[in-house]
Amino acid sequence: MTVTLSPTPLALGGGPSTYWYLTRSTGAVALILLTASVALGVADVQRWSTPKWPRFVVDGLHRQVSLLAVVFVVLHVVTSVLDGYAPISITAAVIPFASSYRPFWLGLGAVSFDLMLALAITSMLRTRISHRAWRTTHWLAYACWPIALLHSFGTGSDARNAWLLWLSIACVGVLAAAVMARALPDFALHRRSSGAALGAVFGFAVFLAAWLPGGPLAKNWAKQAGTPTSLLGHASSLRTSAAGAGSGRPQP
Ligand code: HEM
Repeated sequence: MTVTLSPTPLALGGGPSTYWYLTRSTGAVALILLTASVALGVADVQRWSTPKWPRFVVDGLHRQVSLLAVVFVVLHVVTSVLDGYAPISITAAVIPFASSYRPFWLGLGAVSFDLMLALAITSMLRTRISHRAWRTTHWLAYACWPIALLHSFGTGSDARNAWLLWLSIACVGVLAAAVMARALPDFALHRRSSGAALGAVFGFAVFLAAWLPGGPLAKNWAKQAGTPTSLLGHASSLRTSAAGAGSGRPQP
């Protein structure tokens, strides 16, 4: 079943729709919350605490922030479907690579969303499933995060805007610090897995630095990313008619 809703009145008026702004803002908040959730999870498992931040506070925060991240991703998905500018269906939000709009990059969003749902569901069923099953699923959080970041660069209209770039750099920094805090204390005992985790963080940062300039930061990214031709033309006419920076649909 494919559900694609029609454009909003605001979109029909020729300008960008309110849903577009909501998609971008909820996406950015979801990325921040997802980053915070991973960092808090590491603090929790490493039994980090201070008199002001006892363990039960860190544990509770990790749960609440993770839940809020899921809520924001759901809002992000709903607003992107309601926007109607691009043919994005509810199906494409959960079935990876099923979209005709930037299939690979939107598909990464769907993979990340599915992983988040798996993490949330297994955490809710934690007392009913084995600890091993819960723990194994929880490792997926480390995969969910970089996939969401790649989706953000590949799909978002703000990839070339300083605010999203700086936000992403800050999130990469927080994630790198969290992985180091998780892997370094275990290094002597588990050299191979700790080394692999640290190598993965370093490799991901190097990959981003090499890929971004010729990818999402390049002028022809919209075409490269798989934006339907009809939308490429529409985007440039909106961009020239829109008043003020950021009010059109910049196509990175
Ligand atoms: C963990 C899951 C996800 C996270 C953290 C996330 C986060 C983001 C971020 C940060 C952006 C960039 C926004 C900007 O450029 O201002 C973005 C763009 C976008 N995302 Fe997601 N996303 C996720 C999953 C999904 C899914 C499942 C969909 C499917 C409907 C989706 C649809 C979109 C669309 C359409 C855009 C482009 C919005 C624009 O025109 O700028 N996202 N996402």
